Amino acid sequence: MSARLDRPVAYIEGIGQSVVKKVDLPKDVDILNLATNESSFGASKAVLDAIREQAEKPHRYPDPLSTELRHAIGQHFDLEADQIVCGNGSEELLDGIGRIYARPGDEILFSEYGFLQFPIVAYRAGATAIKAPSPNLTANVDTLLENVTERTKILFLANPENPTGTYIPASEVRRLRDNLPRRIVLVVDSVYCEYVDDPDFTDGLELVEGHNNVIVIRTFSKAWGLAGLRVGWAYCSASMAAVLNTMRGIGNVNAMAQAGAVAALSDPSHVDKVRRETDQARKKFIKDLSRFGVTMVPGAANFVLVKFPATQTNRKAVDAFRHLVSEGIIVRTNEDYGLDDYLRITIGTIEECDQVIDSLDRFFN
Ligand SMILES: Cc1ncc(COP(=O)(O)O)c(C=O)c1O
Repeated sequence: MSARLDRPVAYIEGIGQSVVKKVDLPKDVDILNLATNESSFGASKAVLDAIREQAEKPHRYPDPLSTELRHAIGQHFDLEADQIVCGNGSEELLDGIGRIYARPGDEILFSEYGFLQFPIVAYRAGATAIKAPSPNLTANVDTLLENVTERTKILFLANPENPTGTYIPASEVRRLRDNLPRRIVLVVDSVYCEYVDDPDFTDGLELVEGHNNVIVIRTFSKAWGLAGLRVGWAYCSASMAAVLNTMRGIGNVNAMAQAGAVAALSDPSHVDKVRRETDQARKKFIKDLSRFGVTMVPGAANFVLVKFPATQTNRKAVDAFRHLVSEGIIVRTNEDYGLDDYLRITIGTIEECDQVIDSLDRFFN
């Protein structure tokens, strides 16, 4: 019998169609994508200049060690460059962590509404995905710890989480780290940290010190505005960094992406501006949304999770989704999280948020 090369190994099949969702878009309408939590505020001019310059040299391979970029990150965040590993987006790093530390029979633990990529990482590794309940749509350290078994190899914590946007305070992240057996890798995914402006929040970087089992994941995709370049980074002990380096492609961060990220770090005021403007837009958007009788999950990232009435005919989240798409606005449905009544909407500029409000006005009235 010939091998079925159109069929993956059984555990990969479990991923199903959840990796990329397809949306049927209307023709002849400008499309506003508020489904992927990109920044609507673009990248700084320094980035655009750097990638234009780099565009003259497509015949050169990128630095396989992302040396300049790791040193620039180290300098900006006051970290050791040899404890930093750069990735083709943070998704490459999350995936690699799964492949390095988990095997079939092992468990990968995360909270119920952590981030869709966590179960996908588990599927790809052939490991079992374990979801810890999240009462109040927020990660819960107690339920996470209760779900640790001798098979647990990795615990992923997104802080803030996606799609809820909620986060747990620094004291709770520390409690999680301190109560987790040190044989388990704790991954703190802080890709939305730039948006959180609370003294009781941590991006997790200081939790790495003295711990050979903690990895913090950061990205240039969100507030830095480089989603299309694909640059993420991991911070961990030097010995773990050496291991992470074994799983990534040699030229995983392309030359334009390295140049763009280095330039981004030369202009951190851009991120401050993005944070301020996102915050302003969020406040107005939430106030405007409330007049439709929907409820908002109090999140801190650059998106808002909105609950639509579950019972009203033709006013459910899926109806709102179809209506918005028919007007060229793409937002995200959340049935894959079991949150069928919710839409996740990226906070764009005030004008973009107003466009959503105008469209919902037509939907509700
Ligand atoms: C929680 C979380 N982690 C990681 C990522 C991956 O980001 P990137 O691969 O662009 O760095 C995302 C993207 O939306 C995310 O929401």
